[in-house]
Amino acid sequence: SGAARPRLTFLGTGYLGATYAICFAELGYEVLGLDVDAVKIATLAGGTVPFHEPGLDELLRKNLGSGRLRFTTSYQEAADFGDVHFICVGTPQRHDGLGADLGYVEASVTGLAPYLTRKALIVGKSTVPVGTAQWVEQIVHRHCDPALGVEVAWSPEFLQEGYAVEDVLRPSRVVVGVRSDWASRMVYSAHKGLFDLAASEDREVPVVVTDHATAELVKVAANAYLATKISFINAMAEVCEAADADVTQLSQAIGYDPRIGHRFLQAGIGFGGGCLPKDIRAFQARAQEIGAGEALRFLHEVDLINQRRRSRVVNLAAEELGCPAGPAGPDFAGARIAVLGATFKPDSDDIRDAPALAAAVSLARAGADVHVYDPEGMANAKTAHPELSYAASLDEAVQDAVLTCVLTEWAEFRTADPVRIGALVRERRVIDGRNCLDGGAWAAAGWRYRGMGRTALA
Ligand code: UGA
Repeated sequence: SGAARPRLTFLGTGYLGATYAICFAELGYEVLGLDVDAVKIATLAGGTVPFHEPGLDELLRKNLGSGRLRFTTSYQEAADFGDVHFICVGTPQRHDGLGADLGYVEASVTGLAPYLTRKALIVGKSTVPVGTAQWVEQIVHRHCDPALGVEVAWSPEFLQEGYAVEDVLRPSRVVVGVRSDWASRMVYSAHKGLFDLAASEDREVPVVVTDHATAELVKVAANAYLATKISFINAMAEVCEAADADVTQLSQAIGYDPRIGHRFLQAGIGFGGGCLPKDIRAFQARAQEIGAGEALRFLHEVDLINQRRRSRVVNLAAEELGCPAGPAGPDFAGARIAVLGATFKPDSDDIRDAPALAAAVSLARAGADVHVYDPEGMANAKTAHPELSYAASLDEAVQDAVLTCVLTEWAEFRTADPVRIGALVRERRVIDGRNCLDGGAWAAAGWRYRGMGRTALA
């Protein structure tokens, strides 16, 4: 069976697994998505994606209709169905340290393995510490008959929230760590739909076939590089602030060097989300364990620079409002502040480790009367931080504010009219935490404008 057009299961239908399951059904594969969360499964099976991702709802409904896509909570069903099983569960930061918690990986493998009755390939997609594939192999061999010859491969993914469908269907590369030619062929068959799509569009998808350890490292190395690039430009923002220089122009100028490039070179309030922050910490922890801690010591500094961006917004707000500095930081004494943005980036409802929300919380703790508005992240923000005040719209958030902080660069904020907004606030002061507004236009509309890593405009 299998090899020509293997049947695929995706274990874990969170952000990663749901997107992959839906997109691979779209490519023509027979797909089964599994999750232990029956509510999530019922939601997906009912045609609704339980998170915000452009274009995914339509693809879900289309492929449920085609009959190629189904969902289950039964490992036995998954084992009977699949030739290739993708592990797509989360690997959050541990509660007791910086390393990754592999509890969900272990649970998915011990859930599936006992039901396997024929040779199959288990492909890890989750972001994991180097050495995990080998550990998964041991678990597999403890829980199913070694004579079946079940194998393990690792194939990291690089999808970005907000672009997930495009990133899965048209990946920048496919990376896979395997131990045998059979595994390599199975992985090829399981991705052939991607290669065929590329060929039909006159593209090629670069493929890197390697060993387990390299494949595992590719993922964390890529995220460490991206995090470092952002912290680099944020460090330059700190220097620019001290030197009365402008980091946006500096970034533009250095980015013209193709070896540097403009992407991921935006200074602001730093990176957040479910990946970069936890991945650089887990990478350091793992490097320490395997005796390479010194090599990644700089990632600690990358993390610190990133954390400093969040306090920078709060200090800038205090500076702008002339708040007295108490022993525990500034005292905002009830000042009404609009916080525009809660998600870690636009076009997402994800608030995990979001700098915008963290800054809102700090401002509120320091005594400000904070009113938060976000186009998509309100429900998640309210659940995580019920102590904050939320506004139903941009206009409601800025009403009577003495300071307006734009902390996530949603289009709704970027295109907001400073003249119109200016009539709603009590005082026209804006902090542009993402350097995403046209400062000149805001200043012309009578606002005092503060960006990150640049001098004030008024
Ligand atoms: C990130 C990586 O970009 C993906 O390649 C990777 O697959 C993914 O993590 C993952 O490990 O699953 P994502 O977390 O969706 O993707 O978000 P990014 O678009 O990378 O943004 C991360 C954060 O960096 C955001 O808070 C964003 O505002 C910030 N950022 C980004 C900056 O502050 N400046 C920039 O120039 C770029």
